[in-house]
Amino acid sequence: MRKKIIIANWKMNHDFHETSFFLRNFLKIIFEKKINHNKEIIIAPSFPFLHISNQISQGTTLKIAAQNIHQMEKGSYTGEVSASMLKSIGITKVILGHSERRELYFENNDILFEKIKIALKYGLNIIFCVGETAIERDQNQQFNIVKNQLKETVFHCSRDEIRFFYIAYEPVWAIGTGKNATYEQAQTMHEFIRSLFLEKYGERVSDKIPILYGGSINNLNARDLFLQKDIDGGLVGNYSLKIDNFLEIIQS
Ligand code: 13P
Repeated sequence: MRKKIIIANWKMNHDFHETSFFLRNFLKIIFEKKINHNKEIIIAPSFPFLHISNQISQGTTLKIAAQNIHQMEKGSYTGEVSASMLKSIGITKVILGHSERRELYFENNDILFEKIKIALKYGLNIIFCVGETAIERDQNQQFNIVKNQLKETVFHCSRDEIRFFYIAYEPVWAIGTGKNATYEQAQTMHEFIRSLFLEKYGERVSDKIPILYGGSINNLNARDLFLQKDIDGGLVGNYSLKIDNFLEIIQS
C-alpha cells in the first residue's frame, strides 16, 4: 500500500517571518497534539528561506523542497539557482514542470528534461507536474497531452531513476480557480498515468510511483480525492498557506 503524501507549494508567498512562524508552529502542533496523520509531508517555500526551513525541520519527518532549479550546472545565469546549491544546503527535493513555469517562463519539455537530468545528477527527488489546459480538455486532448508531457521528459529516464520521482497531475484549469477536478476525472487520469508507467517500466514501478493530484484542493474535497485508488495525495497551493487549513488537509 502506497503512503499518502501531501506537498505544500507556497509559490511566491510567505516572507522570512511568515515562513519561520508557520514551520515552528506547525511542527509544534503536529508534535504536541500528536496529530495522527501517517502521511509524508513536504513543504516548498521560496528560495531565500530554504536553508532556515531545513534547519527548523531538522530532526522531524517534515521535508523541505525547492520550487525550481536551473538546468545548467553553474555559470553566468544571473538570478538563477543550481541543483548543487540546493544540495549544499541539504535540500533533497525539487518541484519541476509546474504549469506556471511552463506558461510564464516558457519551460518546454526539452528544458524540463535538462532540469530532470541535473536534478538526478545531484540526487534530488523530483516532484514532476503534468496537466492539460481547459481548451485541451474541451477538445478531449487531456490524455494525449499528459502522455506527451511524460514521454518527452520523465520517460527518457531509466527504471532506476524513476524511484526519484513523484508525479503530480495538476489540470491547469483547476489551479487557483476553486474548481477542482471531480474525483472521477482525477481518478481516471491517475489510472491512465499509472498505466503508462506500467507499459513503460513494468508492474513494480507502476505500483510504487506516487501520483498526486493538485488544483483547488480544500478541506471539503481533499478526503474524497485522497480516497481514490490511484490518488496518492495532493500538491496544495492556496490551502497550504494557513496552518489550520493545511492541518485539515493533512488529516483528510
Ligand atoms: P491551488 O491549490 O491554489 O489550486 O494550487 C495548486 C498548485 O498549483 C500546486 O502546485
